[in-house]
Amino acid sequence: MTKSRTDLVATGQGAYQPAVLERFEQRLQWVWKRDGFAPADRDRLARLLRIVIADLGFRPASDLLHLAGVRTWWNAVFARQRSAFIADWVLAHLKPPVLDVLGGDFTVLRALLTRGLNPEQVVGCERSYAYDLQWSEFDFPVHPVPEDLTLPDVAAYTLLISTVLHHEPEPERLLQAAAVLAAPRWVVIENCVDGDNDAQFHLFVDEFFNRCLNNFEVPCVAQHRTASQWQELLGRYGSVTHIETRQEVPGMPFPYTVFVVDR
Ligand SMILES: C[S@@+](CC[C@H](N)C(=O)[O-])C[C@H]1O[C@@H](n2cnc3c(N)ncnc32)[C@H](O)[C@@H]1O
Repeated sequence: MTKSRTDLVATGQGAYQPAVLERFEQRLQWVWKRDGFAPADRDRLARLLRIVIADLGFRPASDLLHLAGVRTWWNAVFARQRSAFIADWVLAHLKPPVLDVLGGDFTVLRALLTRGLNPEQVVGCERSYAYDLQWSEFDFPVHPVPEDLTLPDVAAYTLLISTVLHHEPEPERLLQAAAVLAAPRWVVIENCVDGDNDAQFHLFVDEFFNRCLNNFEVPCVAQHRTASQWQELLGRYGSVTHIETRQEVPGMPFPYTVFVVDR
């Protein structure tokens, strides 16, 4: 049976409208060109990747990315340029001591240290099973976050919550855990739903990153929101004193928005 244009595309993790994959192909071309991945056949590779995802799923697409050298390049952009971009952007909002909430591989926090944040005034936390890293090798302490999301009881002035909330099945549980700490400021970064990036597209990109660029096995969840919706939710915990969106974040196919919440 031939597929019609409106059939959902099953990727192995979920089913997506063909328009989502079409947009994804365009963004691949845009991000690769913008951030300097420049094989001669770049646009054809983007087309091929879209077809492989649509017809075969994420696992073969991951192999293709690896063979084409894209995975190594893209992860390096995340580790260096994305982290540097976020650090330059939020440094002025981060009054120490800082707790990096679910800091992932802590490339952002490490970029902040190279920009003058004192390692004695930062603490990280993450789920102990989430990343294959030796926390003891960092210049700052990292605490495990248990299933119930209790955050380490440290005397932080600022909580940094960077591209974390939309991954949580219940973002409010994490916000409630954050609210238990006495930190007077939260700096939240989110990729928001907007006219060019609907919730389906965000979810697809989350799946793509987790299945094709790293091996984060936890399922992605549909918790994407518009900037106004995040503002409303965050506003229940304090005053949202600053909101700023930047369109071009290295490695990312959509904008990021920073929210500063003063409590
Ligand atoms: C994109 S990482 C952000 C890490 C770090 N804060 C940063 O900005 O680089 C997302 C965080 O959400 C958590 N998470 C929960 N579910 C996830 C999922 N399905 N995919 C990726 N991250 C997930 C991870 O533990 C991780 O800390």
